[in-house]
Amino acid sequence: MSSAQVAVVTGGARGLGEAIVRRLHADGYRVVVADIDGAGADALAAELDPSRATACGVRSDVAERAAPADLLQGVLDAFGAVHVLVNNAARTRATPVMEIGPDELDEVTAVNFGGTFRFCQTFGSHLAEQGYGRIVNMASLAGQNGGTATGAHYAASKGAVLTATKVFARDLASRGVTVNAVSPGPQEGETVRAVLGEDGVDALRASIPVGRLGDPAFVARMVALLASPDAVSVTGSCWDANGGLYLR
Ligand SMILES: NC(=O)c1ccc[n+]([C@@H]2O[C@H](COP(=O)([O-])OP(=O)(O)OC[C@H]3O[C@@H](n4cnc5c(N)ncnc54)[C@H](O)[C@@H]3O)[C@@H](O)[C@H]2O)c1
Repeated sequence: MSSAQVAVVTGGARGLGEAIVRRLHADGYRVVVADIDGAGADALAAELDPSRATACGVRSDVAERAAPADLLQGVLDAFGAVHVLVNNAARTRATPVMEIGPDELDEVTAVNFGGTFRFCQTFGSHLAEQGYGRIVNMASLAGQNGGTATGAHYAASKGAVLTATKVFARDLASRGVTVNAVSPGPQEGETVRAVLGEDGVDALRASIPVGRLGDPAFVARMVALLASPDAVSVTGSCWDANGGLYLR
C-alpha cells in the first residue's frame, strides 16, 4: 500500500474506531482521527508512532451539518488528499422502544444515519472527482435482525446505513469509488459491557454460536481489506462478523 494514502476515521478515538485507526496506521496510511471527543482523538494520534506514518486528531461532530465539508477541507489542507473514509461514529442506546423520547430518537438518527449519509455525499463526491476512493460504513447486526441488546432507534439507524451503502455504491461505482459496510455482532469492549453489564455479557456469550464475542482487531482488519486498493471488485457489500448469530 502506498504510504501516501490518507484515511479518515470518524469516531476514531476509542472502541472499534480506535482499533481501525491503529490497523490503518500500522498498514501505512496517514490517518485522521476524527471524533466529537477532540482530546481523545488528539491523544490517540499523538500515541501512534510517527516514524511509520503521520496521524492527526480532529474534533468533529458528525451530526453537525457543516461537519463533512469542514473535515474534508481540513484534511485536504493538512494532507493534500484523501483516499479512505470510515464512517464509524455512532451513538449506541438501548432504551426500550416505547420509552424512546423524540430528542433521543433525533440524536441517534442524526449521528448514526445522518452523519454517515452526509459524509458519504461530501466525501463520495470528492473521491469520485479524483477517480479513486474507498468508503467503509460501520453497520451492525442490529440493522439486520432488528437488534438484540440495543434499542429500536439504533437498530433502525443501522438498517438505514446498510441501505444507504448500496445506494452510494451504485452511484459511485463507475468513478473508482467503492462503498461497503461491515456489520459486527457484539464485540469485546466497553460498549457491550455498558449496555448489558457483566452478567448480561456472560448470558450473551452463551447465546453466540461460536461461544465468544468478536475481536475489534479482527473487525479492523476487515475494514482495512475493504479500504485497500485491491478491493476494487467489492462494492455495495455487507461483511458480517457476528459469531453465527445471524446467518443469511
Ligand atoms: N461494539 C460493538 O459490539 C458493535 C457492534 C456492532 C456495531 N458496532 C458499530 O461499530 C462502531 C463503533 O462502535 P463502538 O462500540 O466502538 O462505539 P463507542 O461508543 O465505543 O465509540 C464511538 C466513538 O464515536 C464517537 N462519537 C460519538 N458521537 C459522535 C459524533 N456525533 N461525532 C463524532 N464522533 C462521535 C465517540 O466519542 C467514540 O469515540 C459504531 O458504528 C457501532 O454502531 C459496534
